[in-house]
Amino acid sequence: MNVSLTVNGERVEHDVEPRQLLVHFLRDTLDLTGTHWGCDTSNCGACVVLLDGKPVKSCTILTAMASGHEVRTVEDLATNGHLDPVQQGFHETHALQCGFCTPGMQMTVRALLDENPDPTEAEIRTAISGGICRCTGYKNIVAAARWAAEHQEA
Ligand code: FES
Ligand code: FES
Repeated sequence: MNVSLTVNGERVEHDVEPRQLLVHFLRDTLDLTGTHWGCDTSNCGACVVLLDGKPVKSCTILTAMASGHEVRTVEDLATNGHLDPVQQGFHETHALQCGFCTPGMQMTVRALLDENPDPTEAEIRTAISGGICRCTGYKNIVAAARWAAEHQEA
């Protein structure tokens, strides 16, 4: 079936299998491999992208469901060579180790800050609760989100 959607600001049209998951369209068809594929069962959150500004697990929706919508991936966070404050926050607070969960965590935090620019620790923890990080213990991810909240113009 034919799908037409906007990915990172660019219009994309493609023939896809109706059963194809969005994560595979992004990674395999568009070569946007920043979106990670960790479990395929909606558990890990590594595949989170923004769909019309809301965080979604891209292994949980079909490419066809994104047709007519706007998708934003981690590749779109940095602009003109400048890291998004969320990315900078992860760097400043050492909020990643292996980095596998990082794209999903960063997109989740970006969506949170777009909606709530000054979240509490509890609000951050609730927002990222759909993601699993095996490395950091989450403390520094929360710190990164707070750093980004305090440096939105960074
Ligand atoms: S790959 Fe989507 S939640 Fe794990
Ligand atoms: S940094 Fe390794 S899973 Fe989060």
